Amino acid sequence: MDQRSSRGFDPNKPNAARLYDYYLGGKDNFPADRAAAEKILRVAPELRAAARANRAFLGRAVRHLSGQGITQFLDIGTGLPTQGNVHEVAPPGARVAYVDNDPVVLVHARALLALDSDTSVVQGDLRRPEEILKNGELGIDFDRPVGILLVAVLHFVARSEDPGRIVATLRDAMAPGSFLVLSHGTSDARAAAVTKGTEVYQNSASPLTLRSRDEIAGLFDGFAMEEPGVVWLPQWRPDDTDMIDFPGQPEKSLILCGIGRKT
Ligand SMILES: C[S@@+](CC[C@H](N)C(=O)[O-])C[C@H]1O[C@@H](n2cnc3c(N)ncnc32)[C@H](O)[C@@H]1O
Repeated sequence: MDQRSSRGFDPNKPNAARLYDYYLGGKDNFPADRAAAEKILRVAPELRAAARANRAFLGRAVRHLSGQGITQFLDIGTGLPTQGNVHEVAPPGARVAYVDNDPVVLVHARALLALDSDTSVVQGDLRRPEEILKNGELGIDFDRPVGILLVAVLHFVARSEDPGRIVATLRDAMAPGSFLVLSHGTSDARAAAVTKGTEVYQNSASPLTLRSRDEIAGLFDGFAMEEPGVVWLPQWRPDDTDMIDFPGQPEKSLILCGIGRKT
């Protein structure tokens, strides 16, 4: 193990943040990431558009929550900075806390996202939600409604790590009127894409656990679903700011999403 991998950074092992960066056309990735991504893209070329549709959903979700009066956002599994980051979509003055467990994401995020006193970037692991919640650097007041975003991150949590418990821990900390925004790769997508994606990520630093629609809906246990419920990305209240990548074939977006409200 060289010095870089001993600090949790190994350019020779593809990881979630850099693969996603590559699908989105970013430059923060290495040859090993590109080679792994291309293996999936050969079988599932729709993955690039799926990543764009996921970012578009994130933007619509933040606008929706803002319209409901939410002024604080906790974005767990932030990813490498790209277009339409939460603090760029949220209303001026909103509090935004970005959390990721990838040290490289944190370096980039601190440089590009934490440019003002309303934004913080914090190291944290979704598999240990209690630690995230008690981190004072977030600057989130959990006595007031908050929007928690788990966008394209829970599929990196294995069944043995109990994602239901993780979401329940977050839910219990949320004040009534808070929202959970979730998107998740699904095993209900096209079989060849599911098989190849799972296989390639199995050999990465970020193994993938795709879940069925029922399992994903179950993650919203204890929340009241906002319409239209758990749907394919392009089906969640599309608006005219979106590029329509999947006309008539929303299932090609590979990812299901939804927003729940804590009552
Ligand atoms: C596919 S990217 C999604 C980025 C962004 N949320 C989006 O949807 O555009 C997944 C991100 O989740 C992060 N991640 C994966 N497992 C995590 C964990 N257990 N705790 C915190 N972050 C995690 C990765 O480092 C990566 O930055």
